Amino acid sequence: MEEKIIEESKQGTATMLDNAVENSAGKKLYLESYGCQMNFSDSEIVASILSEEGYTTTRNSEDADVILMNTCSIRENAEQRVRNKLSQYNKRKKQNPSLVIGVLGCMAERLKKDLLEQEKLVDLVAGPDAYRDLPNLIDDVVGGQKAVNVLLSREETYADIAPVRLGEGGVTAFISIMRGCDNMCSFCVVPFTRGRERSRDPESIVAEAQELFDKGYREVTLLGQNVDSYKWNITKKGEVIDESKPVVTFAGLLEKVALVNSDLRVRFSTSHPKDMTDDVLHTMAKYENLCKYIHLPVQSGSTDVLKRMNRGYTREWYMNRINAIKTILPGTFISTDIITGFCGETDEDHKETLSLMEEVGYEFAYMFFYSERPKTLAERKFEDDIPEETKKQRLYEVQELQSKLSYAANEKLVGQVCKVLVEGTSKRSEDYVYGRNSQNVTTIFPKNNYKPGDYVNVKITDFTSATIKGVPVVE
Ligand code: SAH
Ligand code: SF4
Ligand code: F3S
Repeated sequence: MEEKIIEESKQGTATMLDNAVENSAGKKLYLESYGCQMNFSDSEIVASILSEEGYTTTRNSEDADVILMNTCSIRENAEQRVRNKLSQYNKRKKQNPSLVIGVLGCMAERLKKDLLEQEKLVDLVAGPDAYRDLPNLIDDVVGGQKAVNVLLSREETYADIAPVRLGEGGVTAFISIMRGCDNMCSFCVVPFTRGRERSRDPESIVAEAQELFDKGYREVTLLGQNVDSYKWNITKKGEVIDESKPVVTFAGLLEKVALVNSDLRVRFSTSHPKDMTDDVLHTMAKYENLCKYIHLPVQSGSTDVLKRMNRGYTREWYMNRINAIKTILPGTFISTDIITGFCGETDEDHKETLSLMEEVGYEFAYMFFYSERPKTLAERKFEDDIPEETKKQRLYEVQELQSKLSYAANEKLVGQVCKVLVEGTSKRSEDYVYGRNSQNVTTIFPKNNYKPGDYVNVKITDFTSATIKGVPVVE
């Protein structure tokens, strides 16, 4: 999952129901999200909870009565960006003292009341499992107090809340299928900010997918930090909870969602190499609408480094999973996440990452240099001993190689016909539309009369390392 600004909010619906609504009716909420797709998805839950209280969302922070920033802690620079933005919003508070500024998400959970007391940047702090409490927290702030709720839950999945879709286009949507993470990768802050892993009721997931399809959506992405460990009606130890009901694994869930409609594309993120089963791959092979794209973060090509990262697999195990994908699902595009300069990484280790990248031939990658995070296993156990310059140099080498690999991957698509789901008009030209093929490559082609939600067979004629271009095949 990528760390970047992924959304700004737009108009939601207001419903006037009770007294709380009277207080907040007509109030405007500005929601800004940072971090992974999960945060984006959570912002849609937040918009839903607050729309029930009469809030409408605005795209303009200057109109807002309440500004909520849904934040990310994954790397130091992700947090710094949020702090800079918060300082800007705080200046606005001088002119408009009734403005409520809140922090949600992973920074809220990690820093807790420090954000109020030490940094004095906000009025409200709510962690990822506390969003149902937001109406009360905002009331507290309006009443002159500072408000914090950072309780993590073992059960909360927000399964009953219908998200207010904030993305544009009405064609693609995220569905959270689980929350939290029980892995303890030594570099990673997520288990601390998101709490224990819990899966969401499969029926509510299928119902959400069906509803989206009925509204015209044509692609859903199932979200979790480790979707392969999705499980329903069975404990972590493998004990069935209710014998009269079926156990649902991730492969089973994928099949259920695939069956909602063959015209609904299904993607998922993120897979974990230690847990990805052949069952999932066979299910993907069975249904055309399960997109042929897998994001399988490797982090490093060196078994020594992987061990220190506590990833739970070796280079050989990882390559076995890649070979399973290539055998069961030929033509599938594979992407990854890579961290350079983790504690103790030698030149040799780094070369192993480069050689693994070539061996796999990734079509795409998200690449980062290591950023030590407070309280993680790595911070406690290992020295952050690779100089920043070396981390960055290695990152550069990894990026250069990936750029070549992506170029080669897209080059191979020239001459092929890809089925593309139209998402919108190209930003560069009104005469073109864009969408993605099953393998997740952005594809640009002439608009003709196509509209978002159409499937179009496109013959690929041109490419860069980031996109492919083509012409519709007229049948
Ligand atoms: N659950 C997903 C990853 C979520 S975080 C998984 O297990 O793959 C997204 C990516 O951020 C990670 O895959 C990793 O490459 C990167 N990342 C996480 N912590 C980091 C850190 N401390 N420094 C640099 N990159 C990090
Ligand atoms: Fe972090 Fe590892 Fe969990 Fe991914 S699987 S969220 S990297 S602890
Ligand atoms: Fe960031 Fe939290 Fe996601 S740390 S990557 S927003 S789970």
